[in-house]
Amino acid sequence: MERKLVSDAFTLGVCYYPEQWDERLWEDDYRRMKEMGMDIIRVAEFAWTIFEPEDGRFEFGLFDRALDLAHAHGLRVIMSTPTATPPAWLTHAHPEVLNKTQDGLTYHHGMRRHYTYNSTVYREYCARIVRQLAEHYKDHPAVVGWQIDNELNCETDVFYADADHDAFRAWCRDKYGTLDALNRAWGAVFWNQTYTAWEQVHLTRKTAAGSPNPHQALDEKRFISDSAISFAKLQADILREVAPRHWVTTNGLFGNLDSHRLTDETLDFFSYDSYPLFYTMFGDASEPEPMRDRWWSLNLCGVRDISPNFCVMEQQAGPGGWTNRIQLPAPYPGQMRLWTYQSILHGADMVLYFRWRTATFGTEIYWHGLNDYHNGPNRRLREAAAVGEELRRVGERLVGRTYRADVALLEDYDNEWDGRLDTMHGVLRGPSMSAWFKRLQYRHMPADKIKLRGDATADELSGYRLAVYPHPTIMSERTAQMLEAYVRQGGILVLGARTGYKDETGRCRMMPFPGVAAALCGVHVDDFTLIAGDREPANVALADGSGRMFKAPLFNETLSVQDSGTEIIAAYASGWYAGSPALTRRKLGAGEVWYYGASFSEGAAEAILDLLDLPSPAADWARLPREVEFGIREDAAGGRWAYLLNYADREVDIELVRDCVDVLTGERLSGRTVMPAFGVRILEPAPQ
Ligand code: GAL
Repeated sequence: MERKLVSDAFTLGVCYYPEQWDERLWEDDYRRMKEMGMDIIRVAEFAWTIFEPEDGRFEFGLFDRALDLAHAHGLRVIMSTPTATPPAWLTHAHPEVLNKTQDGLTYHHGMRRHYTYNSTVYREYCARIVRQLAEHYKDHPAVVGWQIDNELNCETDVFYADADHDAFRAWCRDKYGTLDALNRAWGAVFWNQTYTAWEQVHLTRKTAAGSPNPHQALDEKRFISDSAISFAKLQADILREVAPRHWVTTNGLFGNLDSHRLTDETLDFFSYDSYPLFYTMFGDASEPEPMRDRWWSLNLCGVRDISPNFCVMEQQAGPGGWTNRIQLPAPYPGQMRLWTYQSILHGADMVLYFRWRTATFGTEIYWHGLNDYHNGPNRRLREAAAVGEELRRVGERLVGRTYRADVALLEDYDNEWDGRLDTMHGVLRGPSMSAWFKRLQYRHMPADKIKLRGDATADELSGYRLAVYPHPTIMSERTAQMLEAYVRQGGILVLGARTGYKDETGRCRMMPFPGVAAALCGVHVDDFTLIAGDREPANVALADGSGRMFKAPLFNETLSVQDSGTEIIAAYASGWYAGSPALTRRKLGAGEVWYYGASFSEGAAEAILDLLDLPSPAADWARLPREVEFGIREDAAGGRWAYLLNYADREVDIELVRDCVDVLTGERLSGRTVMPAFGVRILEPAPQ
């Protein structure tokens, strides 16, 4: 499939809901958007009943007027398919399209995303409305692309309607062929779960203690992902057939969904909705050296791995809140601008603020857009207008560039999904990934976050000096061989506890830990313990005599060296396993592999990074304080721009080591200079 570009000049825009406002406001809204440097709006993702007020009767008048007027003002339009919110007439007449909870309760009309991907009836209604919309708007001069649905798998990422159970049965038959094969893969002899007829096979259902068969639960997640992809493909195929000039995307990044395959098979590019203020609810604000909104850079790295250049369909533009849940404060002055450039640094070639004006009714009356209810001037509008003015000047030069990183942080869908149920490895992954990303950020070492696919090759990794794959519990023999080839070619691979002991069904191998990675690492795990209850995380001490120590949280494995080339880098320094090896390094070919028998604390990541002593590309540009994120985007000719983003609420000093021009202001800079609170600089080398 030939893919269309996001845009050939940076595009700023805003999410707009013409159906929620008096039509007399539209003209003024569009005029002000354009004045603020906005060129695109996204519309219609929740407007099905406007287009189809009753079964089979279609009306386009409202959106025709809204789009014609947008076009008259020089705005482009992203149309959406409205399938995230089925009409009341549809769910009333066909309740079988509604999703159910695992114990069989129906999700009713009154919120959104209450349907299931596998209902044949729902798919027919969706196909019809998508075709109607595509036919109607395919030649509209304002329309440039389509958003499919809205945030697939948001709100709920599990589906248990009757149609899902039926579709899962068919999926299992297709995957396993025979019940014998399914029973084997699911270890069904355990607790007498053996199936003797296909009608007995279901998605996981309510069980005592809420503990389903773990192999079935893993397949369930693969099935949900396949279902979402096939639902998106149903729509994408119609859009491509009817409106081939338009691009197709969808927004979000949610659980139980292989967004990579979704994008490869159905989209021109992926889009993300970036709400950094969620850090105030789920973040590390009360911990030492918090990353706060900078964590969204890790999310954006994940998006970049799906589409190197992408769209941020919804960029936070104000305080957030639903009437009954989610309470987010107002952004600080300058933070919205900072987040816009955070998105751009990580690969966004188009950013739309969410939303133009705060809704005056409905669940999201506290999810503030750029305009307040009163519709007069405010600080958020002023800030967005300043960004619009800047981007109008430099936008053409920003797009199509590639983020450059020497470090890869690896993860994969199988372990993410298996780890949601199997907490014995699932709980390790998040803290380890965060510890690595944070320490890399504070050392100004850009990293990519990569979802490793089953068919990945060593060449795909060979551009990375360092690859950290924290806890790949499920690992195929093929992946173990691929990682070995990466190391032999010169890569540095770091693996953590609980690696390699499960096969792709999630069954455990009859091998010493770390299973299929044991030979590669040159170690066996002799003994191990979960760190829980009264077990304290052990101290680990480097073996170089430096006395340097760090903590080994969550899980501790004691290692024994199996290969004469494997060195002990650190050993446990407390508890009953004091003195046992904890961290090893094996040199292999042109590279090396490290194994660490615990989850990675920041102290462990920092110690390994110190020992590796890899250079930061920031050294060619500037000496930077920790508060500043550093990243590089490269153009097709190899020309590099350095992005500096200050996340601190105060001014910081930086010291340039080469003469630069700030792309945003045109200023020539050298030596010591300041960055204001939440400030941004994009630097290119100054002409000699
Ligand atoms: C997004 C969603 C929007 C809006 C926003 C704020 O997840 O796509 O429609 O709900 O969050 O809650």
